[in-house]
Amino acid sequence: MLNGPNLNLLGVREPERYGRLTLAQIEARVRQKARDLGAEIEWIQSNHEGDLVEAVQALHGKADGALVNAAAYTHTSIALRDALLSVQVPFVEVHLSNLWSREPMRHTSLLADIAVGVVAGFGADSYLLGLDGLVAAIAKRRVDG
Ligand code: DQA
Repeated sequence: MLNGPNLNLLGVREPERYGRLTLAQIEARVRQKARDLGAEIEWIQSNHEGDLVEAVQALHGKADGALVNAAAYTHTSIALRDALLSVQVPFVEVHLSNLWSREPMRHTSLLADIAVGVVAGFGADSYLLGLDGLVAAIAKRRVDG
């Protein structure tokens, strides 16, 4: 699970938009769900684009899939897109807020068209729904080959 900039401020950051859960509380919920699904998870948050690029590069040969909330880098980072294209690891893009009910600058994602799917607008539940979708997609790929 990759978390981009300012997500470390969840809980205090625009709570009416992003909810009152901290990132650590969301992490606990996601880890519990991962256990229920029999999945292992690594959790990363960074405010730095290069760190996130390196985290994506490190997925190669190691992870079956990724959940990605790239936060503001969703809308700007060609580098993150290129990294995800390079490692060819299936990923689900998640957002707490519904990007399309917000400012036009958030309506474009540089990641969405190369994602397995996108979950946005359900608050912290977006992460749980995204994990469900990702694990199902990985299982389906194994069956379909
Ligand atoms: C966000 C939406 C982004 O537009 C914003 O820059 C964020 C959070 C979300 O989860 O709703 O930092 O990714």
